[in-house]
Amino acid sequence: MDKTAIVTGAARGLGAAICVRAVQAGYRLGVLDLKLADCEEFIRSLPGSGHMALQADVTDEHQVRAAFDAFGTAPDLVVNNAGIVRFGPLLEQSVDDWRTVLNVNLTGTYIVAREAGLRMVQRGSGVIINLSSLNAVQPGPGAGAYPAAKAGVASLTEHLSLELGPSGVRVNCVAPGFIDGGMSAPVFADPRVRALRGSGVPLRRLGSVADVANAVVWLASDEAGYITGHQLVIDGGVAHSVLMQLPRKVD
Ligand SMILES: NC(=O)c1ccc[n+]([C@@H]2O[C@H](COP(=O)([O-])OP(=O)(O)OC[C@H]3O[C@@H](n4cnc5c(N)ncnc54)[C@H](O)[C@@H]3O)[C@@H](O)[C@H]2O)c1
Repeated sequence: MDKTAIVTGAARGLGAAICVRAVQAGYRLGVLDLKLADCEEFIRSLPGSGHMALQADVTDEHQVRAAFDAFGTAPDLVVNNAGIVRFGPLLEQSVDDWRTVLNVNLTGTYIVAREAGLRMVQRGSGVIINLSSLNAVQPGPGAGAYPAAKAGVASLTEHLSLELGPSGVRVNCVAPGFIDGGMSAPVFADPRVRALRGSGVPLRRLGSVADVANAVVWLASDEAGYITGHQLVIDGGVAHSVLMQLPRKVD
């Protein structure tokens, strides 16, 4: 029988890459995003059959429940990928922007995870993977509410793993670093930023959307069957590179 997965924010960027990799790994998909037409168009580009377009705003619990109901079967995997960022200094950020970013990234993740968890616990198996960020570990100045929201996602992941683990449901998150795609595409459109950030990564390159998708699908697999409540940082080594950036000697 097919494995099934619902991926949120799936119509483009990292979500789309995760979908492609998941289909290669044998999943039949629920492609969930804000606009039905975007989901349908993306599904036409996917191999395989039986994928379902699911329109929902992850901040709306009724829309999310309707989407899971429409998908029918309890998914084996749910990837909480939908997310937004609003750049700007904290002292200049509107409270509306703060709330919106927390609402989509953190509350939306909770709403989708709850809907997934209710079904998975009943079946006694399942995997939930949330997208946090390097910003959850190292807040980027000017990233507004995003670091706080993603740190919340990491904490929510640990909390869910404790409550759902006894029912056979694993919950993990991945924390992508400097990724050349998705919401970071405009940042890396500037060649000076590409060079600066790329050369600052211990692996000396930006990450790709495929780097993240590969990690998500592996974490969902039975090979990662004893891993839960974990945040897998996918950043080429940036998060622990402070002493590399501030060397003991200057030539
Ligand atoms: N691209 C990066 O550099 C990067 C780095 C770290 C973490 N992330 C995280 O990865 C995830 C995917 O980011 P991306 O770069 O692909 O972004 P993106 O902007 O390219 O795509 C985000 C998708 O989410 C959808 N979406 C937004 N709000 C939604 C809502 N309320 N309900 C349903 N869908 C919604 C959008 O329509 C879009 O299809 C996000 O959680 C993001 O925070 C991205």
